[in-house]
Formats: sequence, structure tokens, C-alpha cells
Amino acid sequence: MTQPPTVSIRPATGSDEGAGRLSRSESDRLYAQSLDDPDGFWREVAGRLDWIRPPTRIRDVSFDLSDFRIRWFDDGRLNASVNCVDRHLATRGDKTALIFEPDDAAAEAVHVTYRDLHARVCRLGNALRALGVAKGDRVTIYLPMIPDAVVAMLACARVGAIHSVVFGGFAPQSIADRVHDCASKLIITADEGLRGGKRVALKANVDAALRLPGTNSVETVLVVRHTGAAVDMQMPRDRWFDAVVEGQQAQCEPEPMDAEDPLFILYTSGSTGKPKGVLHTTGGYLTYASYTHEVVFDLRQDDVYWCTADVGWVTGHSYIVYGPLANGATSVVFEGVPHHPDVSRFWNVIDRHGVTIFYTAPTAIRALMREGDAPVKRTSRRSLRLLGTVGEPINPEAWRWYFEVVGDGRCPVVDTWWQTETGGILISPLPGDGAFKPGCATRPFFGVRPALVDAQGALIEGAAEGNLVLLDSWPGQMRTVYGDHARFLDTYFRTYPGMYFTGDGCRRDADGDYWITGRVDDVINVSGHRIGTAEVESALVSHPKVAEAAVVGFPHDIKGQGIYAYVTLKAGEAADEALRRELLLHVRQEIGPIAAPDHLQWAPGLPKTRSGKIMRRILRKIAEAGGEELAPGQLGDTSTLADPAVVETLVRDRRRG
Ligand code: WTA
Repeated sequence: MTQPPTVSIRPATGSDEGAGRLSRSESDRLYAQSLDDPDGFWREVAGRLDWIRPPTRIRDVSFDLSDFRIRWFDDGRLNASVNCVDRHLATRGDKTALIFEPDDAAAEAVHVTYRDLHARVCRLGNALRALGVAKGDRVTIYLPMIPDAVVAMLACARVGAIHSVVFGGFAPQSIADRVHDCASKLIITADEGLRGGKRVALKANVDAALRLPGTNSVETVLVVRHTGAAVDMQMPRDRWFDAVVEGQQAQCEPEPMDAEDPLFILYTSGSTGKPKGVLHTTGGYLTYASYTHEVVFDLRQDDVYWCTADVGWVTGHSYIVYGPLANGATSVVFEGVPHHPDVSRFWNVIDRHGVTIFYTAPTAIRALMREGDAPVKRTSRRSLRLLGTVGEPINPEAWRWYFEVVGDGRCPVVDTWWQTETGGILISPLPGDGAFKPGCATRPFFGVRPALVDAQGALIEGAAEGNLVLLDSWPGQMRTVYGDHARFLDTYFRTYPGMYFTGDGCRRDADGDYWITGRVDDVINVSGHRIGTAEVESALVSHPKVAEAAVVGFPHDIKGQGIYAYVTLKAGEAADEALRRELLLHVRQEIGPIAAPDHLQWAPGLPKTRSGKIMRRILRKIAEAGGEELAPGQLGDTSTLADPAVVETLVRDRRRG
């Protein structure tokens, strides 16, 4: 059945739904204005923050490699924690800043007011200073989704320390790599995390990480008592969080930061080797996170806003912590998972807290859609007025289910495209648009100039498909790869000179709207999480029995993409089920459970060119084919293969499953 191309919102009769939203013509006018006069536009937007010294220089940008610079609000001074907390005290000190919804659905939720949050941030800020943490020092945060994770980020910002949040699902080696790369001085962790009733041994993982080489920059480990489990405390290195914050003053002098001083590092996977430390600075990032959060989610003062991401990812940074709190919003911090204790959990939490704005990932929507409508329909969800998605392309079927079943056909759906590197949303419909295209990220946010290029880098006009680039800067843009500026320039600005290359493919339709088609580099997007093929390959080959490995993505019903690994064993090793399991476990232990391959195929050899380069294109085709027959032409040009017989074997084995 062919679906109509757009979906219109039917506001309930007599309701004021939609009042106050930017209409399409207003947002078109603002967009035009943002391109005509970027300095004037962003000067005004920056006025939404509290500056110690308001910026007079707005933008200083060149993507030209001979004269490269990205600087926003250059001479401004501010402190991010003051903007997220202190400035709300006078008008909304008793308003709830955070609603903590614990993993255990039977446990009570906790409300943290802006006043409470202020005291907690100040106490920890003072404790950090007492432990010798000063402006510019790096602090690693490895915590579950609990209010202390937010407190930890803001306390770092308070004293000018640069936080590096490491997702709680990462294994010791990944923690160690990230600690080593930025030479962290202090780690904030918890005894354990809880996810769907299962315990995660966070402190034990930190202990294991700190036994690995390259981690002796760490002087102190602060341990939040969360589940109360017994953990090994190694004195004097390890300190209980409670004990160090207790007795600290509830006032803490904020460190004045230049707009371009770093706020945080967040590691993300790229197409090569080790994850890179994406660095965001203070003024531009906070302006952009706060402004996009207000406009894209049509934020109002009485909203209860819930983004289901983890603070270990950029979505959690910008749209659980910095954007919502800079805007004085109420933000839900959810420790749990969508299917625990049952698959109505999301919808029950929405009813329990009266959530009005709900922001989640397509992978969660697809997984819940598979459970049918009943688990949704037995909840009310009357409080909802806006839905959002992020992290990967959303298939139109999942979009429609989200819109019709979850949102009862009442709520606009904003499909927001952005990246760790972009700091905030760059392409998205706006709530007041009236008509929406399922599966389409739609159009650029104010000030954003997307374009499509062909493989040679020539700009493509009109309705077409190509690689997505950005022609100009926006305030939330990353500034560098921590400790490796050359890698920053090489990764993003050398492929297409004068442009920022996103790594995504994209189609522009006849209306000029953008449809993101997915990564065009060696990054796999698994359940909205970025995994570099090279990382998984190097984890596999670090196993003593593995000679070689090649990893590609393949379409997966729930995860969007799955991980497919081809493994060649060393001579004499037996390719059996026990070894397969051992290798999957090995990857989990080296990187973390999210990187474990969904499929592992033994490969007597890998398809290579005569110069020895692995032809991933062919491996991708074989993985995608599943049990289907592959017609000879379907693998594309195989004439450059050193040994065509290798491919025949792989295709045959793939069909056998
Ligand atoms: C993908 C997450 C299609 C894309 C905020 C991008 C999307 C990568 C969308 C960044 C979307 C994110 N539609 N694809 N709405 N949002 N992506 O750094 O491939 O974890 O490059 O940032 O996710 O992932 P990251």
C-alpha cells in the first residue's frame, strides 16, 4: 500500500495545542534572517545566557585549512553551571529540575529542585577543589543514570574541570583508553549500576581499568554508594563520595570561563582505530544546546520533559543536562530500560510523571512496536504533546506507529538529525510545521547550511542523493579532537575542502527536504550507538587464536544495523561453537556488550585486492544477503580480487547459515 507522503496534525477541538509554537512562516523567516545576518542573529540568541562578560565578537570562522578557525562568542565569559542552576534560583528555586525514576519501578521517584541541585553541585565543586582539581583538569565520570551523574557534570563545569563521561556499559579496556587519552586526574563512579534489575559492577570495572597500563594519571576515585554492594576500597586512592561532600559548603565560587574554554570531552567512534575525544567549548555549545532545546521541543515552563538517552552519549549531555537545565526545565533522569519490569514501562513513566515531551531512539520504538499496541493502549499518555526521535534513521512504519499509537495522532514528531560532533540538533522539522513526512529529518535549523556533494566533492543541486556536508559553522560545533588537532582537520575538513563532512549519506527531495540514509564511512550505527568497524576488528585480532578479522554492518530489524564479523583463525585452530562464544565474550570484555557481533562467520580467507586491501563492499553485500541467493552481478565489480574463490566460499557458507 502506498502511504500519503505527509501526515498532518489534528489538534483536539477547542484546545490551545499549538498556540505559541513558531508557525512555518515564522520559522522560515527566522531561518532566512539567520543566514542573512549570522552575527546579529547569534548575538541575540546568545543573550539567552547569563554572561559574566557578554560577547562582543560573535563569530570568527574559516573552514579553509590554510587559515582554519572556529571561534564563537570569543571575548565572552560565563560559567555553564551558573547558567544551568544559579540563575534559576530567584524565580524557580523550588521547581523540580530533575525527576529521578529508578530502575526498580516499585521504588519511589525522587524530585530534585533547582535549590537542591545548586547545593549538591556546590558541595561537590568544593570537594573537587579540595582534592586538587583545578580549571582545565580532566575528570572521568562513569556512573549510572542517577542524579549524581548530572551533579558530577555540573560540578566539573563549576570549577572549570573538563568532564569526560564514559558510558556505564563500557568495559575496563575502554575506560582505560579514555582515561589514558585525556590523562584524567579523578574518576567519579558508583559501587554498582542497575539496569533492568541486573547489577553492573562499575567500581570493579574501574579497578580493572586502573590496573591497565597508561592510567596512572588518576589520583582519586570517588565512589557513590548506590546499591550498597560491598566494593573493594583501595586507600588512599578511593574515597566515598558521601564522605567527601559531607561538610562542604553549599556555596561554591564558580570559575569564570572564556567562551572558548573547554566544557567537556566525549569519546566517539570514527572510521579509524581508536575513539576520538570530541571537544566542546563553553559559550557556543551552551547557547546552541539551550536554544535548540527550546525551539525544537517547543519548550514551555510547565513541561515535564523526558529524554530516554544515557548521559554517556551526547544526547544525554545536550538534551538531558545542558539544554533543559539552562532553560530551567524539568528533566526526567531514567535509570531503567524500556522492557523492565514489562514493556509498558515507558508509558507508565509518562503517566506517573505527566510527561509532556518525550524523546527517544528509533530502536526502542521498533522493539516496543513489536510487542503490539496493547501495552501502550492500557496507559493514558494524555499528558504528551510532543514526540521526538534521534540516533538513526527512523523507518516510516515505526514513525507512524509512534505517531498514531503512542501519540494518539495528536503529537508532532520531530525526527532530529545531529551528531556528537555537532553538539546539538542540526536538521529537524519544527513542531509548528503542521505537516510531517514520516522518516524525514526535513530541514536545517536556524543558521545551519547543509548541502550534498558527489564523490568528487562537487555540490549537487535540487532533488538528488549524495554525501551530507555543512558549508558553515554553528555555535555548537566541536572545536577539536582532544590532543590531536590534525586528526580533527583530516577527519572532517580534508575530504571536501572548505566543508564539514558529516560521514552521512542523504537524499534531498523535490521540496528541498533532507532524508538521512545512514553512514557512508566505516561506522556502524547499532541501536543508535556508533561503533567503529576498526575497533571491533582490533578487539577480535587481539585474541590469540585469530589471524584476521573484517567487520561490516548489516540491516537489523530492531537495532537498525547489526554487527557482522568475518574471522580467519590462525593455522591449526578449530572453528567451533565454543570458540565462537569465546570470541563474542572477548569483544564484550574488550569494548563492552554493545560491540559484540550479532553474526560471526568463519572465513578461510578474506576478499582482498591484489594490493592486499580488504574489499568490504563485497563483505557487506554477502552479510546483507542473509540466506538469499546472490546473483553473480550482485557483488559488483570483483575483477580486482586477488583470489575470487575466497568470495565463493564466503557466499556458500553464508547461505548455509
Ligand atoms: C545518525 C547522536 C538519521 C547519523 C545524536 C549520525 C541519525 C550519527 C539521526 C551520530 C536521525 C543521528 N536520522 N540518522 N534523526 N540522528 N543519526 O554521534 O548517522 O551518537 O551521523 O550522535 O547517528 O551519532 P552520535
